Amino acid sequence: MIGENLPMLPPDAPLETVSVLKALAKASRALAELKGFADTIPNKHILINAVTINEAKDSSAIENFITTHDELYQAMSGSDVQNPAAKEVVNYRTALWRGYELVEQRQMLTTNMIIDIQAIVEDSRAGIRKLPGTVLMNAATGETVYTPPCGEVIIRQLLSNLEQYIHDDSDGVDPLIKLAVIHYQFESIHPFYDGNGRTGRIINVLYLVLKELIDSPILYLSRFIIQNKSDYYRLLQTVRKTGAWEEWIIYILKGVEQTAEETLQLIKRIHEAIDQMTTEIRIALPKIYSKELIDLLFYEFYTKTQYIQNGLGVSRKTAANYLQALEDSGFLSSQKIGKERIYQNRRLYDLVRN
Ligand SMILES: Nc1ncnc2c1ncn2[C@@H]1O[C@H](COP(=O)(O)OP(=O)(O)OP(=O)(O)O)[C@@H](O)[C@H]1O
Ligand SMILES: [Mg+2]
Repeated sequence: MIGENLPMLPPDAPLETVSVLKALAKASRALAELKGFADTIPNKHILINAVTINEAKDSSAIENFITTHDELYQAMSGSDVQNPAAKEVVNYRTALWRGYELVEQRQMLTTNMIIDIQAIVEDSRAGIRKLPGTVLMNAATGETVYTPPCGEVIIRQLLSNLEQYIHDDSDGVDPLIKLAVIHYQFESIHPFYDGNGRTGRIINVLYLVLKELIDSPILYLSRFIIQNKSDYYRLLQTVRKTGAWEEWIIYILKGVEQTAEETLQLIKRIHEAIDQMTTEIRIALPKIYSKELIDLLFYEFYTKTQYIQNGLGVSRKTAANYLQALEDSGFLSSQKIGKERIYQNRRLYDLVRN
């Protein structure tokens, strides 16, 4: 079985229609606002951590790996992950961080990087599809809607063309519009046996970082896609069948706009929570208060004696006393997971979960 012929990029059609440009203006504005606010926050890792946790969960849910924040939290804080869905989420998160690190280091987004990311997502080294048989089906009817290109040589040519499109800005097309094109093309190449959706969603955020539309990886479309899933699949097919890009591009731009607004609200609330807890701990526990301590409490939703010990350079006993005092004053609540006592920052946890 031979896959369908997928045209190389750039698309042979005008992309910047009047409606697209209108949607672009809104999306750009919302994104710039998010970027501007995120820029003013000193401890970006806190935001990135909080936002990527939700993204890992949502993106994995599209593939039906459903887990709760509680299970996830247990999986992250414990040493071995029992729950298979939580494991998928943890893999996704690891892949995302790895991708971000690579893009920051190399200022590029290459085929090899994409292969590395997918290997972490799927926890497999199968790499690019070599065997035929991969088809995309309509989940409801089971009917085959699309057979992606087949054969490693062709797939690599298409990826290399995509790579070129990603790095070539000479076309003057706005990167947010190109984001829609890139996502369609990547999903249509469908280079792997599995994990193409999740890998493609990671590529989206890495592309935004690469083009400096956002400094940290904090804008994710997965939640928007889950909420508008049938349009998502329908519009991918519409581009394929009719070559009409407009509705698809507007869909992605709408996703960027809506998500940027939601993310801005979330990070504002986290920022307020950090401020508030800082004030409260200063008053309630002036002897142990330090900025570094607050950072550690917000780093991962949970902390343990060892993190405080290493992070503050204090003895194990002192670290344990600090955590005890914080728990006694209601800032943390602890739980024994395996052999270890884990302290949860409930306020941060609740903010992120809602
Ligand atoms: N008709 C289509 N044309 C192009 N791409 C499609 C089409 N239907 C689905 N896709 C893409 O394929 C992805 C699913 O592929 P795959 O199962 O390899 O990825 P996944 O990460 O395991 O799944 P998911 O995206 O559901 O989490 C979808 O997310 C979508 O992006
Ligand atoms: Mg799959």
